[in-house]
Amino acid sequence: MNVPAPIAMLAELTHRCPLACPYCSNPTDLLAKENELDTDTWLRVFKQAADMGVLQLHLSGGEPASRHDIVDLMQGAHDDGLYTNLITSGIGLTPRRLDALEAAGMDHIQLSMQGTTADLADWVGGYKGGFDRKMKVAGDIAERGIPLTLNAVMHRHNLDDLERTIEMAVELGARRLEVACVQFHGWASQNRSQLLPSREQTESAKRIVAEAEKRLRGVMAFDFVPPDYYADYPKACMGGWGSAGLNVTPDGTVLPCHAAQTIPTLSFENVKDKSLSDIWYKSEAFNAYRGTDWLPDPCQTCDRKEIDFGGCRCQALAIAGDANATDPVCKLAPGHKHLVDALAEAQSAQTPMIWRSLGQR
Ligand code: SF4
Ligand code: FES
Repeated sequence: MNVPAPIAMLAELTHRCPLACPYCSNPTDLLAKENELDTDTWLRVFKQAADMGVLQLHLSGGEPASRHDIVDLMQGAHDDGLYTNLITSGIGLTPRRLDALEAAGMDHIQLSMQGTTADLADWVGGYKGGFDRKMKVAGDIAERGIPLTLNAVMHRHNLDDLERTIEMAVELGARRLEVACVQFHGWASQNRSQLLPSREQTESAKRIVAEAEKRLRGVMAFDFVPPDYYADYPKACMGGWGSAGLNVTPDGTVLPCHAAQTIPTLSFENVKDKSLSDIWYKSEAFNAYRGTDWLPDPCQTCDRKEIDFGGCRCQALAIAGDANATDPVCKLAPGHKHLVDALAEAQSAQTPMIWRSLGQR
């Protein structure tokens, strides 16, 4: 099989974060600061990524600005010729730091948005004053003309504010708005009954985005990620396992997707022991679900198999109990009833919300 080089790498520089969003996709077993890769190792990994053909580097976390060396890391990535995107809550981005990051070659910022009012945003983010600080940072970004995407993670508690969210994104000068309904991995998986929007909310959101896309053509682009739970077919998670992107965790473990460590039958290699290229092309974990040869029935004979590659492995495990199974979101999947049951449970249960925590925020 001819394996292409990855296009994008997500570097989770740290799990530390001032916010405590209950939808966080970080694992519930968060890594402490002392486990994080040091500056030189990250710089080596960025160089290896560029050498093997990676074009885009997403610097993420946790909150990447929690790293004291974020400017040096940005500079190194830029010097390697990578397109750099800082995925941030904005907390910790002082005007001085923004200037330094810009001078170091930062190409783009993706700013998260928890809500359209301080009350809602601070409640979701579990951080009082976070909304006001974020608005200040958004103004500082606009003042400098740094290309900005707003990432609005949507769920039952804020999807009804979508129209105002769109207005705010325009006011803040965003070039792109991601309306991303929560995906249930990591911390979010514990909060499904609290976070899953209703079918009506989802349908209304689709209409609002479609209308806004037309109205704002040339002003702002949209990415809309609806909840899988109301779809007929799954998404091609990560564009297909081991085909376009890879994630590196704060301690240097290399993953095909952010929830891959939930699959107990796989083991993952580390940049401290192997080159990124060896891990991408040769490791067992990256080859486990590559391409379509491994697909079970009915995917094997389905004309969508090159479109969605059988869906998400981590979701198949989480909902159907088998990472090798067709994603149960698919209406043709033998395990689709597990999705129907999970949806019914999410709609009826009333478990309390659990905010992310690690005792080291
Ligand atoms: Fe995709 Fe498999 Fe469902 Fe076909 S059967 S739509 S390939 S998940
Ligand atoms: Fe792991 Fe989708 S999150 S394959």
